[in-house]
Amino acid sequence: MEPLLLMRGIAKQFPGVRALDGVDLDVRPGEVHCLLGQNGAGKSTLIKVLAGAHQPDEGEIVFAGEPVRLAGPTAAMRAGIATIYQELDLVDGLSVAENIFLGHERARFGFTRRAEAERAARELLGRLGHGEIPPRREVGRLPAAGKQVVSMARALSHDARLIVMDEPSAALAHDEVGNLFRIIRELTGAGVAVVYISHRLEEIREIGDRVTVLKDGRAVAGGLPARTTSTEEIVAMMTGRDVEYAFPERPKSGASGASGEGRAEVLRVEGLTLPGAFEDVSLTVRAGEIVGLAGLVGSGRSEILEAVYGARRPARGRVLVDGRPVRPGDTRAAVRRGMGMAPEERKSQALLMNETVAGNVSVAGLSRYASFGWLSRRRELADVHRQIEALDIRPPDPGRPVVTLSGGNQQKVVLARWLLDPAGLRLLILDEPTRGVDVGARAELYAVIRELAGRGIGVLLVSSEVPEVLGLADRVLVVRDGRVVHTGDARGLDESAVLNMIMEGSAL
Ligand SMILES: Nc1ncnc2c1ncn2[C@@H]1O[C@H](COP(=O)(O)OP(=O)(O)OP(=O)(O)O)[C@@H](O)[C@H]1O
Ligand SMILES: [Mg+2]
Repeated sequence: MEPLLLMRGIAKQFPGVRALDGVDLDVRPGEVHCLLGQNGAGKSTLIKVLAGAHQPDEGEIVFAGEPVRLAGPTAAMRAGIATIYQELDLVDGLSVAENIFLGHERARFGFTRRAEAERAARELLGRLGHGEIPPRREVGRLPAAGKQVVSMARALSHDARLIVMDEPSAALAHDEVGNLFRIIRELTGAGVAVVYISHRLEEIREIGDRVTVLKDGRAVAGGLPARTTSTEEIVAMMTGRDVEYAFPERPKSGASGASGEGRAEVLRVEGLTLPGAFEDVSLTVRAGEIVGLAGLVGSGRSEILEAVYGARRPARGRVLVDGRPVRPGDTRAAVRRGMGMAPEERKSQALLMNETVAGNVSVAGLSRYASFGWLSRRRELADVHRQIEALDIRPPDPGRPVVTLSGGNQQKVVLARWLLDPAGLRLLILDEPTRGVDVGARAELYAVIRELAGRGIGVLLVSSEVPEVLGLADRVLVVRDGRVVHTGDARGLDESAVLNMIMEGSAL
C-alpha cells in the first residue's frame, strides 16, 4: 500500500543533545502507527517536526506522495496533519469554542459568528461523546480529561488525514480511554491515519496496527506488527536491556504492613465535604503506609487530594496531621505541617518551566538553603545531583531549563523536589505520579516511593492505573461519585474487583 507519510533520515540537534539521529517512519492510510520509546528517546521531537513546530536539520518528508516542507504549524495543518500535544497547548483564559477554532481558517469570526462557532464546537464535542462540555466554559476551569477532549476536538475540526497523538491517554481514566479508542477506530475506518504515542504497552496491543521503536534518537525497529510483537521484545528494544517492571516488595509487618499496626497516624481526615466534588470523606494514613485512591476521572479523587493539601477549601470536615488540625484551604499551613504534593498537571501547577532543573528541584527546600549563605549553593547542587541520579533524570544536567526536558523527565523533576528534603516531610500526596513515565523509570519511581514510606513518611496517592494502585499501595480506597465506597487491604483485591467497584452504577 502507498504510504501516506514517509519521513526519511530526520535529524534534529538541540544544544548538547542529538534528539533525532536519522529517523525513518512510514505511516499508511487508515492505520494506527504506535511510536514507542523511553523518556527522552525523541518521540515528541519527531512529532513536533511533523507538526511544523520544529525544523529538522536533515531529512525529508513525503506526505500523500508529495515532498513537503512543514515550515510552521499552519503549513502542517494545511497539509492535513493535526497534532495533539503531550503538554496540551490550550489557552486557559479562552473559552472551549475559542480554543477549538484558534488559528483556524474558518475562525475569523467576530461576535456575530460566535454562535456559529459554538454550534460547531458543540457538534464536535458531541461526536467525541462529550456533549456535556459547555462551549462557552473557560478552558482553565475544565479538569484534565476535559482539556484533552477539547484538544481532540480541535484536531478533528481540521479534517486532517493524519492525526498525531502524543500520550493522549495519559490524562484519561479507564472508561475514557475506551471512548478515545472508539474515536480512533472511527477515524481510521474513514481512512485517517493516526500516530499514537503511549507508555502503556497494553494499549498498543489493543489499538495499534504497527509499531516503531525509538531509542536515543534512532529508530531501532520500524513498522513491526503491534499484535504479535511481545511486550518483552518491545521493552528490550526500548531499553536495550531486560527490565523488571515489578512493584517493590511490601515490608513484612509492622513498618508498613497492611494496617500499619502500632504506627502513629500521620493523617486523619474526618467528614471532609466539598459540595459538587465529594461528600463525607474520612480516611487515615499511618506513618510508613501507602494509601491509594482508585476512581474514575471526575469521581472526586483529585479534589480530595487537593482539599487535604489545602488547595481547595472544604465546606465541612477536618484534616489533622499528627493529631493536630491543619488550617483548611491553606497550602502554606499544609507545607509547614510537613505535607508535600505532586499535582496532576505538572506544567501549570507544579513546574517553573523556564527555570533550571536545580531551580525547580530546590523550590521546596528553599528555606533550608537560604540560611546557609554561599556554602548552601554547593550543598544544594550536591543534593540536586543526588536526586538526578536517584531518579535517572536525563540529561543529568541541573542547569538545563525544565522546558527542554522530555515529558517523563519533567515528571521526575516534580517528584525530585519533594524527595530532596524528606527530613521535614510527614505526608507525601501524589496525583498520577507516573503519568508519562516510561516502564523502566516507573520501577525506579516505585522503589523511591516505597523507600520514603520505609522512612516513616505517609503516602496518599491517586492513579488511574488500577494495577499501579494495587501494586504500590498497602491500603486502597475506592472513590465513586464523590464518596468512598470501599476501604481495604490492597492484597485482598484484584484488578477486576476494583474496576467493578469503580464503575458500578455508573452509566458505562
Ligand atoms: N526545546 C528543546 N531544547 C533542548 N533539548 C530538547 C528540547 N526538546 C527536547 N529536547 C531534548 O531532546 C530529547 C528528546 O526529547 P523528547 O521530548 O522528544 O522525548 P520523548 O521521547 O518525547 O520523551 P517522553 O516519553 O519523556 O515524553 C531529550 O533529551 C530532551 O531533553
Ligand atoms: Mg514526549
